[in-house]
Order: sequence, then structure tokens, then C-alpha cells
Amino acid sequence: MARLDGKVAIITGGAGGIGAATAELFVAEGAAVVLVDIDASALKDVSEAIRTRVPAARVLDLEIDVGQEASAAAIVERTLAAFGKIDILVNNAGIRAYEPLDAAKAETWSKILSVNLLSYAYLAREALPSLRSSQKGAIVNVSSTHAFNPRGGMGQYDVAKAGIISMTKTLAFEEADRGVRVNAVCPGLTLTPFHVRRFAPEGKTEQDLRTERTDHNIQRRWADPREVAWPILWLASDEASFMTASVIMADGGTRV
Ligand SMILES: NC(=O)c1ccc[n+]([C@@H]2O[C@H](COP(=O)([O-])OP(=O)(O)OC[C@H]3O[C@@H](n4cnc5c(N)ncnc54)[C@H](O)[C@@H]3O)[C@@H](O)[C@H]2O)c1
Repeated sequence: MARLDGKVAIITGGAGGIGAATAELFVAEGAAVVLVDIDASALKDVSEAIRTRVPAARVLDLEIDVGQEASAAAIVERTLAAFGKIDILVNNAGIRAYEPLDAAKAETWSKILSVNLLSYAYLAREALPSLRSSQKGAIVNVSSTHAFNPRGGMGQYDVAKAGIISMTKTLAFEEADRGVRVNAVCPGLTLTPFHVRRFAPEGKTEQDLRTERTDHNIQRRWADPREVAWPILWLASDEASFMTASVIMADGGTRV
């Protein structure tokens, strides 16, 4: 019996590095997955790759902007139409901005808070009735090591990530008696396509990044997205049945 046999999971940001790695593990462990992402072409690539590896995979792609409140209800409706229930919600979509607070624009604040924080709250709200019916419902919110280790230059992002921790705990308390567990995973430096693109102008290849020594964490390296996906999988599974309101730091021992 696989860890997620018969379960239905929604993963936002499912076309990105951590989301795609999570989707692959979930499918391998028997879940049907709904991949939600704004990037249609990456979404197609990820779902095709999963179907190639697991021909019987149950995968639904939804090209939707989670930054709009109305998207949450649409995602839940389309998931229920396709698979009839929701057992797991992985809130993972995220965007970055590099503005020091003395130059932080209202437009950037609004966008970051909409995608990185409010989408998590709205999707949880809309999915809760189904998650409660599941009786073993689980929400895993992807935050960041920088929720606890804020730095200069990414204040809007770090504030949103800290908000996710607070929201995770509030929701865990509110849902404890209704059978829904709510936890967070805080990745550190993880080698995703976003970072590969970000460092390309400096002449660094993916292989360079994979082997470089970094001062970001005490393991002195980048994580592979799977190393973040494993704790997400575990928290979503029934093996973590006594875990709620918890935060797992998947950050290689980050120091700031
Ligand atoms: N990679 C890291 O080093 C790292 C570190 C700490 C935290 N995180 C967090 O992990 C999560 C996943 O990050 P990743 O590195 O895989 O990033 P990524 O950029 O590869 O993936 C994020 C995905 O979210 C999607 N997305 C962005 N805005 C969206 C929107 N409005 N609607 C729907 N989808 C949208 C993107 O298209 C992308 O596919 C994010 O929340 C990120 O903040 C990543």
C-alpha cells in the first residue's frame, strides 16, 4: 500500500521546481493530483513528464492565477468535478520581489501578499468542507526559512512567508476538532528552474550551482527540490497523523 493511495491532492505552483517534485512523489505514492499554475507551458511539460513516467497517473492541469480570490472556488469546483473529493491541499505557489523596504511599492506589496499569502488562505477556506469530509484532511503550506531568518532586500516576501506560519497555526487550532491537520514546510536554498534562470546572466549553469559551495546553510549546498518534497509528502500522509500546527525546516541548517 502506497502512502497516498486513493487520495486527491491539489498542489499550487505545481509547474515550479518544488511543486513539480511534490507532484511526482504524490503520484508515485498513489494520489490523483491537481496541478495549479499560471505558467501554461511549464504546466504542460510537468504533467506530460509525470504521465510519461506513470502512464496510469491521474493528473489534472489547471492554468489559473491563484492571486485572484475567485480562483480558489474555481479550483475546488474543478477538482471536485474531476475527482469527487479533496484530501490534501499543498499551498506552494510563490513569487519573489527584490525591493528594500524604503523603496517598496504598493503594487509589489499587493501582488506578493495576494499570491504568497492570501491565495493560501482563500484556497484553504474553499477546500475545507471537502478536507473535513475526508476525515484525514491535510494542508501543507510552503513557507520559507526566511519566515524565521529575514534578511535585507526581500522584506515583502519574508513578511508574507512569516504570515504563512502564523496562518498555519491559527488554522490548525481552528480545524483540530474537524479532522484537518495543518502544517508548514520551510525550504531553504533549493535548486529550481527559477534560480537556474536567475543565475544564468552571471554565467552560472545548473551544474555549477549543483556543485558550488554556499554559505547559506551548514550543509554548504543547494537542496534538490525532492529534498523539500519528501517532508511535504510525509506531512500530507497519514504517517504524520499526530503532526499539526508544526513547522519543518527543510533548509540544510540555514544561517543568515
Ligand atoms: N527555491 C527556493 O530556494 C525556495 C526557498 C524557500 C521557499 N521557497 C518557496 O517554495 C515555493 C515553490 O518555489 P519554487 O522554488 O519551486 O519556485 P518556482 O518559481 O520554481 O515555482 C513557483 C510556481 O508558482 C507559480 N506561480 C507564480 N505565481 C502564480 C500565480 N499567481 N498563480 C498560479 N501559480 C503561480 C509559478 O509559475 C511557478 O511555477 C514558493 O512558495 C517559494 O517561495 C522556495
